[in-house]
Amino acid sequence: MAAIRKIADKHKLKVIEDNAQAIDARGDTFKQGELSDAVATSFIIQKNLGCFGDGGALFTNDDGINEKVRKLRSHGSSKRDHHSYGFNSRLDDLQAGILSAKLKHFVEWSDRRITLAKRYTEGLKGVKSMTLPYVKPGYRHVFHLYVVETKDASRRNDMVKFLVDNGVDAKTHYSIAIHKQEGFPWGKEYSIAGSVANAEKNAASCVSLPMFPELTEKEVDYSIEKVLEWDKKNS
Ligand SMILES: Cc1ncc(COP(=O)(O)O)c(C=O)c1O
Repeated sequence: MAAIRKIADKHKLKVIEDNAQAIDARGDTFKQGELSDAVATSFIIQKNLGCFGDGGALFTNDDGINEKVRKLRSHGSSKRDHHSYGFNSRLDDLQAGILSAKLKHFVEWSDRRITLAKRYTEGLKGVKSMTLPYVKPGYRHVFHLYVVETKDASRRNDMVKFLVDNGVDAKTHYSIAIHKQEGFPWGKEYSIAGSVANAEKNAASCVSLPMFPELTEKEVDYSIEKVLEWDKKNS
């Protein structure tokens, strides 16, 4: 984030963080939003802080962004009868109520995710065919997902199939990098300069293991057992 802030300052750019999977996470010397101009998040049901349908929010201390976004979310209006370009993106009251109730618990839920992630990492220590998630010292990683990467990308789909066939809800988030999606960048006037090797490598080799606060230790241990079984055959 510090490096991104530096580049943005040099070129007079705004930095917008997407923390849809990272609400309640933080860096070693900074919190979310401290090195950016705005933070956007999603409250879609499966997120760490999710409502019972769709929702989202933007956090900012920048008065200009605040004013613009408040207007955009409500049909471009900040004054009755006066409209400019905008959308209907107001947070539904019912969803806001659900989020207010969940807000009291979500730090505890993040802690639970962290405990489960540690259990995965401890149980999978020593695997040879994949790399495990890495947490930078001093950072709080809230594990919206627990993602391993197969060293041999051509074996990834086989691993997912093996786990699913054995009752483990493994998934890929996501198997096609955004710049490889059909028609990207969707009418915008720019193109990707050079390769995006890390994104492509991740898309080809990522496997998400089950992760949510209600998961039991027994379930995590079963997933570990099956991953170790696959690793043994593929190392
Ligand atoms: C990192 C990230 N950004 C953005 C989104 C999009 O959120 P929404 O569908 O609520 O707009 C998601 C949700 O899947 C996400 O994980």
